[in-house]
Amino acid sequence: MEALIVEGGVRLKGTVRISGAKNAVLPIMAATLLTDEECIIENVPNLRDVATMTQLLSFLGADISWEEDVMRIRVKDVKEPFAPYDLVRTMRASVLVLGPLIARCGFAKVSMPGGCAIGERPINLHLRGFETLGAVIDIDSGYVIAKVEGKLTGNRYVFEKVTVTGTENVIMAASLSEGETVLVNVAEEPEVVELIDVLRKMGAEIEEIEPRVLRISGKEKLGGFRHRVMPDRIEAATFIIASTMVGECVDIIDVRCEHLEAVLEKLKECGARFESIDRGLKVYGAEKILARDVETAPYPGFPTDVQAQYMAMMTIAEGVSIITETIFEKRFMHAAELRRMGADIVVEGQRAIVKGVKELKGAPLMASDLRASASLVIAALAARGVSKISRLYHLDRGYEKFDEKLRSLGARVWRVKE
Ligand code: UD1
Repeated sequence: MEALIVEGGVRLKGTVRISGAKNAVLPIMAATLLTDEECIIENVPNLRDVATMTQLLSFLGADISWEEDVMRIRVKDVKEPFAPYDLVRTMRASVLVLGPLIARCGFAKVSMPGGCAIGERPINLHLRGFETLGAVIDIDSGYVIAKVEGKLTGNRYVFEKVTVTGTENVIMAASLSEGETVLVNVAEEPEVVELIDVLRKMGAEIEEIEPRVLRISGKEKLGGFRHRVMPDRIEAATFIIASTMVGECVDIIDVRCEHLEAVLEKLKECGARFESIDRGLKVYGAEKILARDVETAPYPGFPTDVQAQYMAMMTIAEGVSIITETIFEKRFMHAAELRRMGADIVVEGQRAIVKGVKELKGAPLMASDLRASASLVIAALAARGVSKISRLYHLDRGYEKFDEKLRSLGARVWRVKE
């Protein structure tokens, strides 16, 4: 296993480019199962989760070539619509193959993803959606077994709660079905919108008839596509927060500010200083970071995937802030680690009360999940002394060359074997 050594206290300076979005590319890759034609995806980030998805698609019968950041996928035939435990266990987003497989093959056997460090994360709303479209679902020995007589049939389905991958899964299934589907209370994250774009390129007919309501006219066949993945808004937010905390002046390229309105608005309240540049944002280190409360919410609200990084910033802010996590019930694992660096954080249920301290001190730290590891890295950059962050594999699931990018900004970070 690898760990990251971080020597804190260096001001970041230079230019960094944001990679393609993990949460956009994974559903797009799953969508290639809906067609026997070739699909070309550009700006694919080199991440562990993307590698896992290529493994899963290959297992299902896809021919895949991946050169630089261009991936070509063709699923001429699905070998067997089966996603084994080992592949689903390492990445929950594997469940995104379920919708396309049921729609294309009329049958699918996909391992149930378990809970994870940030909460239980059930998939009941995905399954209920498929049932509404006519699938019969059975859970057997840890597997979801879905069957449909003939084709999936369009219907009306109301998501009881906003779910990102749930929305994506059901939209994909409905796109390759008979008749019309209306989905109510869908997620509106930019990654969902991008998947809809791709499905339209494949020939799907999807229309937003009201806010959070989609009408999908099912098609008998969908075709190939070429698509460039949007930049990762969570990676961008992570660099913006790091630059605010320890930056001198950092140019962050490939940022879509329209995807980050809630984050930028909040950071401005905290004293962050940035301005638009061509395709990106110039961020100056804040003279003073002010404590401000925040509450996570589905898009366009403040993303839960930026909560941990925001907490790292609040630990050295002036004043007290309350961070409320409304999406995942256990997503404060990073608080205990930040405390080991001297942060003053009290967790009460879904709220964390953070009292800003003068400085953090380097410490040995343990990453618990993807975004928590990013939060520990940026806290360590701001801390006095050296930190060692173990279980780095969490970071590699979703950040492309994070340590390399930080080094290019002057940070003193390096990997060691444990
Ligand atoms: C996606 C993102 C993840 C992000 C999350 C919330 C991907 C690959 N991952 O995860 O990075 O943190 O959105 O923005 O895009 N829920 C149910 N039943 C379901 C589905 C969800 O109760 O069937 C609950 C979840 O437990 C959670 C909430 O709904 O409390 C939202 O989760 P959801 O949007 O589904 O998260 P993911 O799609 O797994």
